[in-house]
Amino acid sequence: MRASANSPVEAPVLKTPQSRGWFITLEGIDGAGKSSQFSAVVETLRGLGRAVVATREPGGTPLGERLRELLLSEPMSTSAEALLVFAARQEHVLHVIEPALLRGQDVVCDRFTDATLAYQGAGKGIPRDRLEALAQWVHPGLEPDLTLLLDLPAEVAAQRMQAQGRTADRFEREPQEFFARVRREYLELAREQPRRWRVIDANRDLEDVREDVLQSLKSFLEA
Ligand code: TMP
Repeated sequence: MRASANSPVEAPVLKTPQSRGWFITLEGIDGAGKSSQFSAVVETLRGLGRAVVATREPGGTPLGERLRELLLSEPMSTSAEALLVFAARQEHVLHVIEPALLRGQDVVCDRFTDATLAYQGAGKGIPRDRLEALAQWVHPGLEPDLTLLLDLPAEVAAQRMQAQGRTADRFEREPQEFFARVRREYLELAREQPRRWRVIDANRDLEDVREDVLQSLKSFLEA
């Protein structure tokens, strides 16, 4: 049977009880269709009776949302961009993510530090060790339990965004080669940590993608 947000996956036998909630992130290049899959994940977890905090990066706090506006519109150097992303993340981790996980709530986050490694790292050329040092400073010991990567070729993502006809933000205006580098980095990160990542072929109908996303979620919860 095809799972949908309204008919969530059958209640699985959950992993060994743990005091903190699950930290689940979604990643992918712009145009990969992350937003609708994000809602499916959140609704499915809630359908299983779990308390979920749904949030996003950059953003998720009042200051983070203001920094997001700047990041998406204001011209700036690449290092200022990376530092602002981590400034927003620091607020988010301290005031939203960690408190929720400690309360036992699940946190589903639209992008996290992997996006910085992919966009500011591979996309814009900041050395990975520099970004990892910032990550270590901002969220020592905190890493997603599950990361769903919606993967599709940069040219398909560009066609989708063009078809949507909306005004592109500062990141979406980057050339296709930029998104090809970002995609390669995501795939490399997934290859390095196969237990955490699930790579989902997003170059298909929304419904088929959703089925895979929910299947990956189910197998994570049951493992
Ligand atoms: P969104 O459109 O998925 O909400 O993300 C906003 C943009 O921010 C997207 O183009 C990716 C970019 N971004 C980074 O460049 N680095 C980061 O660390 C994050 C979280 C997002």
